[in-house]
This record gives sequence, structure tokens and C-alpha cells, in this order.
Amino acid sequence: MISSSELREKYLQFFKEKGHAVIPSASIIPENDPTVLFTPAGMHPLVPYLLGEPHPEGARLCDVQKCIRTIDIDEVGDTSHCTFFEMLGNWSLGDYFKEESIKWSYEFLTSDKWLNLDVTKIAISVFEGDDDAPRDEVSAGVWQECGIPKERIFYLPKKNNWWIAGDAGPCGPDTEIFIITDKEPCSPECSPACDCGRYLEIWNNVFMEYNKKPDGTYEPLKKKNVDTGMGLDRTIAVLQGVSSVYETDLFAPIIKKIEDLSGVNYGKDPETTEAMRIMADHIRTATFMIGDEKGITPSNVDQGYVLRRLIRRVVRHGAKLSWENGNAWKIASVVIDIYKDVYPELVENKSRIHDELNKEEARFAKTLQRGLREFEKVASEMAEGDTIDGQTAFHLYDTYGFPIEITVEMAEEKGLKVDTNGFDEAFREHQEKSSAGAEQKFKGGLADSTEATSHLHTATHLLHAALRNMFGDTVEQKGSNITAERMRFDFSFERKIEPDELKELEDWVNRAIEAKIPVIMEELPVDKAKAQGAIGLFSSKYGNTVKVYTIEGYSKEICGGPHASNTADLGRFEIQKEQSSSAGVRRIKAVLIKD
Ligand code: SER
Repeated sequence: MISSSELREKYLQFFKEKGHAVIPSASIIPENDPTVLFTPAGMHPLVPYLLGEPHPEGARLCDVQKCIRTIDIDEVGDTSHCTFFEMLGNWSLGDYFKEESIKWSYEFLTSDKWLNLDVTKIAISVFEGDDDAPRDEVSAGVWQECGIPKERIFYLPKKNNWWIAGDAGPCGPDTEIFIITDKEPCSPECSPACDCGRYLEIWNNVFMEYNKKPDGTYEPLKKKNVDTGMGLDRTIAVLQGVSSVYETDLFAPIIKKIEDLSGVNYGKDPETTEAMRIMADHIRTATFMIGDEKGITPSNVDQGYVLRRLIRRVVRHGAKLSWENGNAWKIASVVIDIYKDVYPELVENKSRIHDELNKEEARFAKTLQRGLREFEKVASEMAEGDTIDGQTAFHLYDTYGFPIEITVEMAEEKGLKVDTNGFDEAFREHQEKSSAGAEQKFKGGLADSTEATSHLHTATHLLHAALRNMFGDTVEQKGSNITAERMRFDFSFERKIEPDELKELEDWVNRAIEAKIPVIMEELPVDKAKAQGAIGLFSSKYGNTVKVYTIEGYSKEICGGPHASNTADLGRFEIQKEQSSSAGVRRIKAVLIKD
């Protein structure tokens, strides 16, 4: 039986044989993109290249990317939805298009040299067409040529067969590949659009021909790209012949450990089975969040709050298994063991993973019992079908640390509802008051390669260099987030930066701007770039070629770009705020003022 490691290897091998360069997985914390908290798809770190920026590894790329999506968190506990997953992806940047892409997917899935899947179990969906783009007869035709009969090719609308990351950016019609499971069709109309479980999506081939502009209109992209993504967890479940991802080699040891620690058998009854799945999924995701190269810690904002919610949910579901607090790190050790060869950062950050899980479990354990009593009191005064108001839900959050999902779940178990809009409102009001996290999101992003963001990107390199020049090489970038209006830069540093030091940093950057230095890009093997003293976050698992941006005398950094062509274009650099971001990490917000 094929293992998950073999599937990763086979996938990369197959696409290498088709002329693709293997690139490393990026961090799960996106770089320079305020529109998403986590990397949601393999294509996400590649957005600048899908918009036309040349990639140093060429026009054919493939990788295995770690991804996090929490949008379907309510579905976790079923057989296939996970908050963390790996995406096997291959891309054509203006090179091959529909025909090669579809034929290669078919070959990889069905050839006995590769996955050898039963062709009769494969169903396909293609875009049915609308005012923005035509019906995708081309893709349907190629699938038929491959041997998929018409009755297993479904034409579906934009809702199903159009892919875009967020509201704007590169996008286009897609063709999705499904495995037909043993579940009977739910109705005569049952199709891959239906979520009854008969059709399991494993691979999505997106034909990116358009750029959706912020005003909602579509313009053709300069180059037509292909972006495909195959879910490793789901595909391995199919290949290993099991009915849920939790029985694959990616999850079985985690479930076994939960069984050992709780004394409860998986599969014994639906409630504890669901709890075990949720715990396994959430601890795996938390392990990847804390153990990432840009590791995060639990907090009340942004990524840190998502992490906090996951760990707290583990504690709450653990209570259903008479689970002892302080066990999560033991599960995390199993997760690290499963993934250690593919993601060595988990091993490097093992003690941080253990510490943070322990601390957060202990924090929540302190208030959980009192919070549960408070909840019982509220619930006892209500009748079935009643709604818990937003203020009460917020009180449970604010005083006892109950994330809203926990309150909703507990309410559902008692036949009650929760006014989640009211909760959001109370939450927002509170945030505005404390001004934490009230910052506007969903502007800019990787799809925004305007002049303003390119210039801010160059300013970020200069600030990074200024910090290291002033405080030494222990200052390391921890994150960067750019909108059209401002830049935000997080870096390792133990103390507050004094106003006169901020002024010195500003002056240093402004000197580089006034010196009117060209920003030069070179493509170099990663080792050579490092030998030249280039700084940067990129790992070199595959000895890749990288882009190095040099501002002679000031900065040399590995980066995807795009950048200003000369520092003279930047205007005046002004630091607006310096603050703590998390333990040992400071944050600087700055703008460029153009005269
Ligand atoms: N971007 C597409 C997806 O995430 C294909 O990679 O499904």
C-alpha cells in the first residue's frame, strides 16, 4: 500500500519528469499579504508570478505546500475536512495550458506506473460558462479524449467551477477531479456540486486566464497560467482504501495516541469519535502553527487568536473523553514524528511547541470549569429554541476565555442558539475601545503589485538592513505585511526601541533613498546568494535558484519582488509606530511620504 511519503515523492517525481522545478513549501504565515491570516492554497505564495513576475526557477513549477483553512472548521469531525492540509501543486506560468494539464493529471492518477486509480471511479466537473467567460468545452473535450465518458463530466456554474483567492486577483475556470465513493447518489440530480459525500474532490486544475480587478471586472492576463492543487490527505485516504482521513498513515498514529491517553476507543460511539477527530485535527494544525519557521503563539488577535481557539477547542472536546489537561504536547510529539522528514522545522521547534501547548491548556483549564458553570446558569434559565444574546456570549469570551465556536457548540447541544452577529458586534466594540486588532484588513495583498506596494516593499528591505546595521545580526525578520498605504515589519528584538533610535533608523533609510541607488535583481543559486551575505527567509531544501535584490552599500536580500527600480522613487520614509508584537518580537509601522 502506498504511504503518504511515497505519494509526495511520486507526485514531485512525475512533474519533474514533465520538466517542472521542485520548489520548497513556503511558510504557513503569508508574506506581505494582509488579506489572509494563513497560506490557504499552494498557489498563494506564487501570486506575484501568476500575475507576470518571472519566477527564477522557470515557467514549470511543482511543490508540496503546507496550508491552513479555518473556514470549514464546523465541518471538522466528518471524514474529510481538516484545518491543516498539504497541497500537491503544479503550475504553468504562461507555458502549457488545458490539454497538457488535464492529460498529465489523468496519467498521474490512472497509469499503473503512478497511482493506478480505477478510471471508472473518476468524475469530472467543468465550467458551464456565463457572461464573463465561455463554457469550457475545451477541457470537457480533453477529458473525453482521455476516456472519461460524457455522463461522468458535469458542467457547473461559477460557484463551483471558478477559482479565485479572495475577492480580486488572478482567476479563471477550473476543472475538478472527483472520486466516486461507495455512497449511493442522494437523488437523481446528485452531482459533484452536491455535498452528500458521493463525490470526493481530490484535485483542482485552474486555468488562470483572467485578473479580477477590485471593481469586479475581469481583464485577460498577459500570460495564461495553470494552477493545480491536489489534497494529500484526501488522496491518500482513497489510495489506502479507508473511509476517512483519520484512518490514513497521516492520522492513525495520532488517533491511537488519543485512545491510549484517554482509554476511549475510536469508533465506539459517534460523539467521542467526533471529539477525537476534532482533537487530532486541531492539535496537528496547532503543531504546524507553533512549529512554523515563522512560528506564532496564542494571543487575542489575528493568527494567535486562531491558534488559541484551536487549543481551547481541544480542551473542551477532551473533557468529553475525561482527558487530562497537559496531554496535548504528547499528541504533538506524534505529529512531529509523522512529519519530521518533510518539515524539519517541527523538530527544530519541538520545545516551543510543547511549551506553548502546555501554557495555553493550563490557561484555559483555569477558567473552563467556572465558565461551564456560568454557561449552565445561563442555559438553565432558557427554553429549547431560545437564543443566547451577543453580550452574554461576549461575557463568556471575555471573562472565561470561551471562543464563540465553543459557546455555539455547547448551545447546540442544549437545543439553544447564539446571536453570533451580536457577539461580533460586542467583540468589535471592545476592539475599537482597546484599539487592538481594529486595523482594517482585506486591502492590498499579494495580488496588489501596484507601484505603492512595490515601493513599500523596497522600504521594508531598507528598514530590515537598518535594524541589523544598528542592532546586529540577531535581528531577524518575523513577518512583513504591506497594504497600499503602509508597511508593517515584525522582527526579533527584546526591548522597546527608544525614540532617538527610531529617528536614527529613519535617517538611515532616508540616506539610502537620497543616495538614489538602483535596486538590482539577480537570480542566483541559494547557496551562492547566502555566501554573498544575502539575508532572507527562504529555505533551500532543493538547492533552488532565488532572486536577490541588492541596494548596493545598504541591503542584499532574497525576495520574490516586485520592487522599486531605484531608491529615489520611494519619497520620504517615516516611522509611525513601534510596539510589541509578541514575546521577543517588536513591530514597526511606517509609511512613504511622496511630495
Ligand atoms: N488554487 C486552487 C485550489 O486551491 C488549485 O490549486 O483549489
